[in-house]
Amino acid sequence: MSATSYDEYEGLNRLALDRAGQAEAFDVVGDRYDEAFPHKEGQVASGDWLAGALPDGSRILDAGCGTGLPTARQLSDAGHRVVGIDLSPSMVKLARDNAPGAEFHRLDIADLRGGRLGGPGSFDGIAAFFSLLMLPRAEIPYALGLLHDLLRPEGLLALSMVEADVDDFTIPFLGTSVRVSGYLRDDLRRVVCDAGFEVVGEDAYAYAPASTDVPPEIQLFLHLRRV
Ligand SMILES: C[S@@+](CC[C@H](N)C(=O)[O-])C[C@H]1O[C@@H](n2cnc3c(N)ncnc32)[C@H](O)[C@@H]1O
Repeated sequence: MSATSYDEYEGLNRLALDRAGQAEAFDVVGDRYDEAFPHKEGQVASGDWLAGALPDGSRILDAGCGTGLPTARQLSDAGHRVVGIDLSPSMVKLARDNAPGAEFHRLDIADLRGGRLGGPGSFDGIAAFFSLLMLPRAEIPYALGLLHDLLRPEGLLALSMVEADVDDFTIPFLGTSVRVSGYLRDDLRRVVCDAGFEVVGEDAYAYAPASTDVPPEIQLFLHLRRV
C-alpha cells in the first residue's frame, strides 16, 4: 500500500479529534430525527442513483447511517450488501431495527482507517448523507480521502452536505446542539475533486425541516466517482 489517506489521517490525530457531544446529541434525538426531516426526496433520489449505478449485490458503506432510514433500508432492499456505521449507539440500534437486511457497527468514520471493515478498495459504493458535515473542516478532506481509498477504482460516492460557509459551528438541534461544518457549492466541488473524485452529477434542494428548532437549509447532493 502506498502512502494513502490511512497514513495521512494519522497526522490529523495530532489535532486530537473532538467528538464531545456529537454522538450524545443524536442519542438524545433518537427517532425524532426522522420526524424533523420527513421529506427526503433529494436523499432518496441520490440513493436511487447509487443503487442503480452499481451491479446487484454490491458492497456499500453507509457512513453516518443515522436511523437507517431511508438510505440503508433503500440500498439493502435494492439487493446490495450494506454496512452502516454511526458514532451514536442509539442510532445504530434504530438502524438495526429499521434495516434488518443490513449490518451495522458503532464506529467513528475516522476509525475506518483501522481496516475494521476492510482495507483499501473493499467497497463498491459509499453513501455519506449529512454525516461529514458533523466533522470540523480541517478533517473533512482527510475523511473524503479515506472514503476514496475504501472504494475500489471507479467506485461511487453519494455525498450530501448543507450549503453553508461554516466551520465547527454550534447550532441548536431538536432541543440539544451539534457542531456542523459546510461549504458553498463551488468550494465543496473543489474539496471533493482535491480528494480524488470526479463529479458525475449534482442536485440542490431547498429544505424546510418540520421543526422550527432546525433552520431552513439548502441541501447539496453530489454524485461522485473515484478517479
Ligand atoms: C445529520 S445525521 C444524518 C444521518 C443519515 N445519514 C441521514 O441522512 O438520515 C448525521 C449522523 O452522523 C453521525 N455521526 C456524526 N459524527 C460521526 C462520526 N465521526 N463518525 C460516524 N458517524 C458520525 C451522527 O451520529 C448522525 O447519526
